[in-house]
Amino acid sequence: MSESAEMFARENGERFVAELKELLRIPSIATDPARVGDVRRAAEFCRSELERIGMRRARLVETSTEEQIVTGVDGVSRVVPLRLGHPLVLAEWMEAGAGAPTVLCYGHYDVQPAEPLDEWLSPPFEPTERNGNLYARGAVDDKGQMWMHVKALESLFAAGEGRLPVNVRVVIEGEEEVGGEGIAAFVRAHGEELQADVALVSDTEMFAPDLPTLCVGLRGMIYTEIEVRGARTDLHSGMYGGAVPNPFVALAQIIARLKDETGRILIPGIYDTVQAPTEAELAAWRALPFDEEEYRETEVGSTELVGEAGYSVLERTWARPTLDVHGMPGGFVGAGAKTVIPARAVAKVSLRLVPDMTPAETFDQLQRYVGEIAPKGVEVEVRLIHAGDPIVVSTDNVYVHAATEAMRVVWGKETVFVRGGGSIPIVGDFVRELGIPTVMMGFGLPDDNLHAPNEKFHLENFHHGIQSILGFLTRVGAARQTEAAERDNGR
Ligand code: BES
Ligand code: MN
Ligand code: MN
Repeated sequence: MSESAEMFARENGERFVAELKELLRIPSIATDPARVGDVRRAAEFCRSELERIGMRRARLVETSTEEQIVTGVDGVSRVVPLRLGHPLVLAEWMEAGAGAPTVLCYGHYDVQPAEPLDEWLSPPFEPTERNGNLYARGAVDDKGQMWMHVKALESLFAAGEGRLPVNVRVVIEGEEEVGGEGIAAFVRAHGEELQADVALVSDTEMFAPDLPTLCVGLRGMIYTEIEVRGARTDLHSGMYGGAVPNPFVALAQIIARLKDETGRILIPGIYDTVQAPTEAELAAWRALPFDEEEYRETEVGSTELVGEAGYSVLERTWARPTLDVHGMPGGFVGAGAKTVIPARAVAKVSLRLVPDMTPAETFDQLQRYVGEIAPKGVEVEVRLIHAGDPIVVSTDNVYVHAATEAMRVVWGKETVFVRGGGSIPIVGDFVRELGIPTVMMGFGLPDDNLHAPNEKFHLENFHHGIQSILGFLTRVGAARQTEAAERDNGR
């Protein structure tokens, strides 16, 4: 007799957490060139575990896209990758039989940088348990959530004596946090290797503790750098100050004209294609357990909330575009004082997009507007670093029903549908390139400190998440078998 997958997951829960800790010790920071080896080690860790649990064709796929020809000192020209991308981890198990559906499980093994390091109560890459939480960079975004998929699959393999109730493909990327194009290029070039009936993504949050949540929309984004150049070289601010342009002041003047005091973006045309949520969606959002004052006080910790008048916080973060400045590298930022007029200044500026905005049109509008408002005496360049489409997914399909039923059993509650303010660029490609619905079943909590110091994963959510995911996969398998049986019976 094989034990049930649920029981296997319960009995092996501690080991699952121990393995996750091992993965969390690998600092797979995608943006840091010094960490390429660690990023690859994390990929290999996932690959070998997928192979061990019984997945077929577990492999790493390289994502370097651009190439250049380099002539060596020996006079021989070679084609070498211009930028070595971080590998994709792929695996599959396609033996569920004729008519069985295929689920594409997506996650990412790369993580955000851990800075500022001195604000962590325990080191970011030494996973530590405190009060039922596991603290580490990547604990919830997304190593811990991706690991739930792997462990749900392991439990199903164990219960099915080497078989799964559905066909499964797994794709885990290593460049999500840097907006890497590697996975999108792979989807476009080798879509057949990822072909499935539905994608399962666990990289979002629950709306509140104990409230099962499906995320049905994500904002898109364009991430840009605005560079302002003044004099040919840095200048003594006493000798030249008053007569020459200061790029930082010019940049500040530009930034100050991107948004007004009410939070409205001033780029012409930016709101032209913004679609309002439906009345039903807005009503559902109003019914969510959310108190703006409590959010300000406990989650944000600021004296005021800002943003467009006439929109609730949920509307502002889920259904309205916004613009933010992330940093302004350049000039003098060392200790003490240095009297210099820098020759150049840079601001990292991003916009979050909502349906039906497009990254291309939005970048165009930003570029044109910045050109128009640039003060005299400086040159301005706007560069696109990365981009992703906004997306709203359908809530009316058998897969969403399978997900809500699975979560009802685990959490004893009805699922709420929310959107997320963040972005997962590849979800748009799943819908548009592969033409498949996506179920975003995530188990983070609002106070999990994503991208911030003291990121954590609530361990109960890790275990409940595994139960929810294996319940989902089982139901997707059963649903189609019933359909097939009914067809075979001539009904
Ligand atoms: N998992 C997040 C996205 C997310 C978080 C969606 C919470 C919904 C709720 C993802 O890892 C992320 O941080 N994405 C980046 C994307 C970007 C770098 C292209 C983001 O949103 O900033
Ligand atoms: Mn993520
Ligand atoms: Mn992230």
